[in-house]
Amino acid sequence: DGVLRGVVAVDGPSGTGKSTTARGLAMRLGARYLDTGAMYRAATLAVLRAGAPLDVAATTADGHDDVVAVVLGARLDLSTDPAEPRVRLDGEDVGAEIRGSEVTGAVSAVSALTAVRAHLVAEQRRVVDEALAAGAGIVVEGRDIGTVVLPDAGLKVFLTASALVRAGRRDAENTAAGRSGGPDVAADLARRDTLDSSRAASPLRPADDAVEVDTSALDIDGVLDRLQDLAEDRDMIV
Ligand code: DC
Repeated sequence: DGVLRGVVAVDGPSGTGKSTTARGLAMRLGARYLDTGAMYRAATLAVLRAGAPLDVAATTADGHDDVVAVVLGARLDLSTDPAEPRVRLDGEDVGAEIRGSEVTGAVSAVSALTAVRAHLVAEQRRVVDEALAAGAGIVVEGRDIGTVVLPDAGLKVFLTASALVRAGRRDAENTAAGRSGGPDVAADLARRDTLDSSRAASPLRPADDAVEVDTSALDIDGVLDRLQDLAEDRDMIV
């Protein structure tokens, strides 16, 4: 296998295998890895810890100055090593806590805010610029990477999967991590998708030039082979 040059954007709803795919591709191709969902989750944990009032059903883009102030004041620190993707909030490792149901229930409301997105998008671009300046390739996963954060990415992938497959994967993920997924994993996924797709600021949608990959019937190696082929077609592997 060669080494990735440039940027691969991996977007799509939850449960489509985004994290496994993006991280696995970075491992396979000697690239760095950035999980932007982890940034929104860590920002949300900061808001919950500060006790800033949150309307979890909100999809409005503005206001909530107290929430925004907490996010702007939080120190987020992510490693881009795919072998060890650490997340720190104000110096503390929060990798496990940001996957819990409290954060999962509140993250859509925090990530709907324009000022929060502007702040985190600037940080995401800084991390990518740093990787590229060091001569590394980088795989970036999220919801708006191909549309908003990195519209010039050399390869944009939009992962999909059937609702049944997605709920099953999220269930398995929760069980493996020793978490209860809450009363209804499928309903929670559907609720978050609706919030993420209908929000005014950077809604979840494929970029016009994204390649859609349906992962329902593929195992992880099948997905990685497909993405590697797409990167090779674009001369991104040296
Ligand atoms: O991928 P994830 O489940 O860890 O993402 C958590 C939440 O963060 C998700 O509900 C939507 C939001 N998110 C976002 O709005 N934009 C991104 N680029 C990544 C995640």
